Amino acid sequence: MCSIGKPSRLAPPSPPGYLLFQLPKLQTQPLEYLGEIWQTYGDLVRLPIMPGFTLLFGAHPSHAEHILLTHKDRYKKADFFVRPMSLVQGKGLFTNEGAEWLKHRRLMQPAFHQQQLVELYGMMQGCVQALVTEWAEIPEDSVIDIAAAMNTVTLKIVSMALFSVDISDKSNQLGQAFRTALNYVYYRLNTPLALPIWIPTVRNRHFHQAKQILDRVVLEIIQARRQDPTLRPDLLSMLLAAQDEETGEGMSDRQLLDEVITLINAGHETTATTLAWTWYLLGTHPNVMANLQHEVDTILQDEAPTFAQLAQLQYTRRVLDESLRLRPPGMGLVPRVALEDDEIQGYFIPKGSVFNIVTYFIGRHPDFWPNPDQFDPDRFLPEQAKQRYKFAYLPFGAGPHACIGKNLALMEATLILVMIIQRFHIQLVPNQSIAIDPQFTLRPKHGVQVTLRPR
Ligand code: HEM
Repeated sequence: MCSIGKPSRLAPPSPPGYLLFQLPKLQTQPLEYLGEIWQTYGDLVRLPIMPGFTLLFGAHPSHAEHILLTHKDRYKKADFFVRPMSLVQGKGLFTNEGAEWLKHRRLMQPAFHQQQLVELYGMMQGCVQALVTEWAEIPEDSVIDIAAAMNTVTLKIVSMALFSVDISDKSNQLGQAFRTALNYVYYRLNTPLALPIWIPTVRNRHFHQAKQILDRVVLEIIQARRQDPTLRPDLLSMLLAAQDEETGEGMSDRQLLDEVITLINAGHETTATTLAWTWYLLGTHPNVMANLQHEVDTILQDEAPTFAQLAQLQYTRRVLDESLRLRPPGMGLVPRVALEDDEIQGYFIPKGSVFNIVTYFIGRHPDFWPNPDQFDPDRFLPEQAKQRYKFAYLPFGAGPHACIGKNLALMEATLILVMIIQRFHIQLVPNQSIAIDPQFTLRPKHGVQVTLRPR
């Protein structure tokens, strides 16, 4: 089919005809739709939506290795995704690429190293302590939505970690503006034919107002910090002090603004969604919950966990790893566009193709995950994990654009999980409707309702 040295011309398998009328299903039920397609056509499929617009979906770990690492220079993040995100995040790490992205990534990376995170530990612990103290006041067996609670506490932690301000309170102006702006981005991502942003519709005007508030308040925080550089143990202090090793240059206020908004955005809902699903999975697997409680009780002995103890909580970490495999907060990575003709697994990938790496299915690929739908934290025992192809597990992405906040997210999620388990029995409310809401993140659509009983 292909002559030596020339790219293959074999197109990936595809359902017949154009699929424009299937687009609503792809948007509203992507997991069901792609699951069927994947079963029928294999790991790499082509979905021609309409003339001139074709999407590719890859569910094999080698696709991820090819695009994110070995042939990364042949791909970039897709504009149709990056443009709406940039409305809020500007040119932050998530939406940026090339030389500027690399410079910022190098400046920011040290702030996320494990040894720096110890600086944030006391603050994080305080935020979780406040939550369990608040819950201790709730009458026993009251029902709470633990997914919503995880959203609030992670927004509090990420905003405190960034600039020592809590924006999680509903009445906080910055928090409100952030939510409005973010909802607008989700709307634009899901509505390809949305009216242009400059048309003064009510929705567009609300967005502009929210973004103005967001920029103004965050810039005020940055400028105040420049005038009073007394070191606070937060990420903004580290980012303000960060300098390029060669030029000695740091980031401008505008650049810092974009990075701060990016970090709030990328760092809060992802962790909240992970925790919400973890509570659900624990609620449906009492044996795993019992093992977790045992580890927490044995290692922590009713004391507040120290930073050093977190690394000893290895079963807890396996629970989180397995939860992230079954329910990665995003269905896939940011879509990538081919900058030149390419070939993957013998299939021709023409320049301009939009390739979606579907981490949700990669994490369930039966060649790498026996009984893929089963929740089994012991898959992540070191002897099992080290035999596995690295790209079969991608909740934090891979390659140069892999998540910068991975350590922070895992430390935060571990702390929240164990401090709650130390104090409460968490039980799922029976017969509730649990469904995945396939928006930007795969949130539980109706939340996760639980009852709390003090231990
Ligand atoms: C469980 C929690 C989290 C998950 C599952 C997660 C997942 C991811 C993934 C998959 C990517 C790569 C996207 C791609 O290549 O298309 C990414 C990138 C990123 N994440 Fe996270 N993330 C989490 C938490 C955080 C936190 C806490 C922060 C920061 C406070 C953060 C900041 C970022 C940033 C800035 C990027 C872009 C990195 C770059 O392109 O250089 N994330 N994340």
